[in-house]
Amino acid sequence: MTRRVSLTQYLVEQQREHGRIPGQLRLLIEVVARACKRIAISVNKGALGDVLGSANTENVQGEVQKKLDIIANEVLIEANEWGGALAAMASEEMDSIHVIPNRYPQGEYLLLFDPLDGSSNIDVNVSIGTIFSVLRKVGHHHGVSEEDFLQSGKAQAAAGYCIYGPQTTLVLTVGDGVAMFTLDREQGSWVLTGENLQIPADTKEFAINMSNKRHWAAPVTRYIDECLEGKDGPRGKDFNMRWVASMVADVHRILTRGGVFMYPWDKREPDKPGKLRLMYEANPMAFIVEQAGGAATNGLQRIMELQPSKLHERVSVVLGSKNEVERVTAYHRDAA
Ligand code: AHG
Ligand code: MN
Ligand code: MN
Repeated sequence: MTRRVSLTQYLVEQQREHGRIPGQLRLLIEVVARACKRIAISVNKGALGDVLGSANTENVQGEVQKKLDIIANEVLIEANEWGGALAAMASEEMDSIHVIPNRYPQGEYLLLFDPLDGSSNIDVNVSIGTIFSVLRKVGHHHGVSEEDFLQSGKAQAAAGYCIYGPQTTLVLTVGDGVAMFTLDREQGSWVLTGENLQIPADTKEFAINMSNKRHWAAPVTRYIDECLEGKDGPRGKDFNMRWVASMVADVHRILTRGGVFMYPWDKREPDKPGKLRLMYEANPMAFIVEQAGGAATNGLQRIMELQPSKLHERVSVVLGSKNEVERVTAYHRDAA
């Protein structure tokens, strides 16, 4: 009989045999996974659960919140408040950090999340997800502030995402490769369905919102134009394009079969470095992608080496198959 490994067993083995994760981190990851299970249930109910549509409120980034953005945020906060592993949490949907209330024990970790990624896909029944990043609270000072969160992606203790698609899948790294778990709905448990995932270094597939083409910087246009020229162009091969508009889904495809994902800076809002958020979108995805042998840059620098200056900081993102990311990055360096 093939061995069926649960998330709990995987984490216990990481803790015991590999010494990779302390008990508090193990508990924390299990709680996040449990919260994702609850979010998955709401996502599945759709119209039957009255979870579709807009909440008619705006988040700190000026984006209109969907009902599920708020539900997912609440589920994650509630699930993670009392466990004792955390000092504070931060979310795309909250202006400032959420410190663990005094009635609960304080832990040594900080949790950041994009509770619901790909909000524009909720109402049209296309894959969406949850992204999370775990940092350690450094230093022994009392209390916790936003400053404590401003650490580079290299400092992440764990990162992951859950994709609510045809299957509900959790992808996780604790810095020892990337593992994948599929939710068994009958059993209510996460089952290990992939280990040491590797992104092929080369690809013939790119993901970018082409409708922004006229706003791009020259190196991005150069790269995409060369892809579009296909066999007859300098690349000498035909490329395929995919754009789900849920970062989680686009990254999941790349993790499964390779590809390059880009959400670059563009001229529409020249003062913003990009659309995606560094601390709870780009950093966790960069950690996962690098752990799977891929690369992630902002066009010039490795994403995980960027020093954040604020919680909701934005960043330009190029990630996925290593050789393609290096090519896009080289085009940016040429131009600079
Ligand atoms: P969120 O729903 O958390 O705000 O994130 C949406 C992001 C990301 O998931 C996706 O890659 C991108 O926005 C889609 O942008 P376009 O609308 O330009 O396609
Ligand atoms: Mn998002
Ligand atoms: Mn979101």
